[in-house]
Amino acid sequence: MGLRIGIVGVTGAVGQEALHLLEGGTLPIAEIRLFASSRSADRILSFRHEPIRVEEVGEERLAALDYVFFSAGGSVSRRYAPIAVKGGAVVIDNSSAFRMADEVPLVVPEVNAKTLRRHSGIIANPNCTAAILATAVWPLHQAAVVERIVVATYQAASGAGAKALSELDAQVRQYAAGEAIRKKVFPEQIAFNVFSHNTPVDESGFNEEENKVAQEIRKIFGEPTLGICATCIRVPVFRAHSEAIVLETRRKLSAEEAREILRHAPGVVVVDDRQANQFPTPLEAAGKREILVGRLREDPSHPRALALFVSGDQLLKGAAWNAIQILERLAA
Ligand code: HSE
Repeated sequence: MGLRIGIVGVTGAVGQEALHLLEGGTLPIAEIRLFASSRSADRILSFRHEPIRVEEVGEERLAALDYVFFSAGGSVSRRYAPIAVKGGAVVIDNSSAFRMADEVPLVVPEVNAKTLRRHSGIIANPNCTAAILATAVWPLHQAAVVERIVVATYQAASGAGAKALSELDAQVRQYAAGEAIRKKVFPEQIAFNVFSHNTPVDESGFNEEENKVAQEIRKIFGEPTLGICATCIRVPVFRAHSEAIVLETRRKLSAEEAREILRHAPGVVVVDDRQANQFPTPLEAAGKREILVGRLREDPSHPRALALFVSGDQLLKGAAWNAIQILERLAA
């Protein structure tokens, strides 16, 4: 018997990726229902050569589905995910609405797939930056116990949505034409500039994105006291987030040992060729399901610390692909 699957937020960037991944995947799908806000409802999308009408998300429409993927923001998830669960579905939620709830597993399948066994209807997909970091760092944590993580992120404009991406494109054109740069989505000029994340800052000075990275990594790793200091930065890259990471480990890990561990790790590709000067870039990572990891170096300023640089597609492993991996495991 095939699965009945719903995607809420199908016209957004993550929803589109999820649809394409399901289309090209091997899951037996009997029915697919596509949902969006009233603004995007009634559009016709195609799935495995069949036209499918996008429905406006509504309470009664979410019944009789086996799995529903939500990627329409926290308020839509808070309102409709419990209704989908009541109707019998398991929800995989891409928003931050339920991520830190005790009864909700927060899952990166390469790290903590076993927590999928104890869900009560909702499973959370992590923040993109946390999913990318977790995939790259977990194999090293298993080998040498990571005690502290210092990370600086380089997050693509598309992480802030389609309008943000258009703003970057428009500002590049405005700059080339000598026009005044117009800002709407971002608080600062994004073209030819970088700035720290424009999410709210708490009283300690860390912004929401930085706090999410710390809290979510602790939950995913099952390490409530793991030390994490994040600085989240927006960069004028179209797609794929990068992260410069320094890890302090309990056991000393050489760069070569770390490289070897990562070469055998799931979801990771080592790109660390010093001779050819080839290392991870967001351009290279865009469109790939794996996280590219390189620039592995022993930190000369600390006896047990390792530096690395990673790039990963925030729409794939950072969102849609992670969710499809969860779905594949649930449906197996
Ligand atoms: N919070 C992330 C960002 C979204 O703003 O980049 C995931 O791409």
